[in-house]
Amino acid sequence: MTPPLLSAPLLSAPLLSVRDLTVTFRAEGRTQAAVDRVGFDVAAGEVLGIVGESGSGKSVTALAVMGLLPANGRVASGEILFEGTDLLRLPARKMRDLRGRRIGMIFQEPMTSLNPVFTIGDQIVETIVHHERLGRRAARERAVDMLARVGIPSARRRLDDYPHQMSGGMRQRVMIAMALACSPRLLLADEPTTALDVTIQAQLLDLLNDLRREFGMAVVVITHNMGVIAEFADRVAVFYAGRVAEEAPVEPLFDRPAHPYTRGLLASTPRLDADAERLVTIPGAMPNIAAPPPGCRFAPRCGVKVEACEADRPPLVAVGDGHRAACIRAGEAAA
Ligand SMILES: Nc1ncnc2c1ncn2[C@@H]1O[C@H](COP(=O)(O)OP(=O)(O)O)[C@@H](O)[C@H]1O
Ligand SMILES: [Mg+2]
Repeated sequence: MTPPLLSAPLLSAPLLSVRDLTVTFRAEGRTQAAVDRVGFDVAAGEVLGIVGESGSGKSVTALAVMGLLPANGRVASGEILFEGTDLLRLPARKMRDLRGRRIGMIFQEPMTSLNPVFTIGDQIVETIVHHERLGRRAARERAVDMLARVGIPSARRRLDDYPHQMSGGMRQRVMIAMALACSPRLLLADEPTTALDVTIQAQLLDLLNDLRREFGMAVVVITHNMGVIAEFADRVAVFYAGRVAEEAPVEPLFDRPAHPYTRGLLASTPRLDADAERLVTIPGAMPNIAAPPPGCRFAPRCGVKVEACEADRPPLVAVGDGHRAACIRAGEAAA
């Protein structure tokens, strides 16, 4: 038998590889899968956008990668390889060390992750001392430096502020400073700008983009906003009802979307030059994950479904270079 051809596996190994990840929740005496055999790779320095409607399993996926699922959730199967190590097999102590030092995370609402009773300075200094084994004085200098880097004016003075003394945009900058204080290889940003007004959103995305170039860091940016994807991501994974519907580099995804759900998402993205009245939305709602339809989960809302769509789960099939879609009609769309 001829061995399979491998192309320099070590050089091309992704920084993060999520494979066949299934996450289940126990609620009201029942177990349901919020994430169902999801997989994607992130290369070093790359920005992967994860996009999809609310409830599609984006945050649950990120929390699973961080080892921070709520108590009623568990990874039922799959692998989460980070720098070649399966995080699911890592002892809790090692995972805690990795979190913050090698993998940073920022959330949508910084008030929930900043502790209201400690100053900004205490919280950043604590993170740096914990992960970098620096003395307090050196850690404080690093904290001032990081706050200045994320564009907080009079950084040294702001160290003594409490979170509630800052605006939402400034708090999100503090979160970015904290996440980047230890120069992680990977940043998970879950709806990092959703709670902020449009101008501040744009500023923060620019800032994140500059910092990730400077630090050579990979980013997974989770959003329900196609505009954020277009601005910021290199590649996209479109989530629908706990599964990957489509994945592709940004340009082919916008130019030649192969999954009807992606086409619907793009059509419902408000454009700066279009008036909001003409916004197209996808009719219907995402299925209840407690009782998902058999076959394709998008079939109940799909304008191009055929009988076979309701029979079996559609596999992700290649429709172009690095472009895959879980639709049995994707080939027709590509042609
Ligand atoms: N703590 C929980 N208990 C039970 N179910 C949960 C919990 N957290 C999330 N889920 C389920 O997982 C689904 C996906 O949630 P989530 O990943 O937060 O969606 P989003 O794509 O909006 O980030 C939710 O619709 C919900 O059914
Ligand atoms: Mg979410």
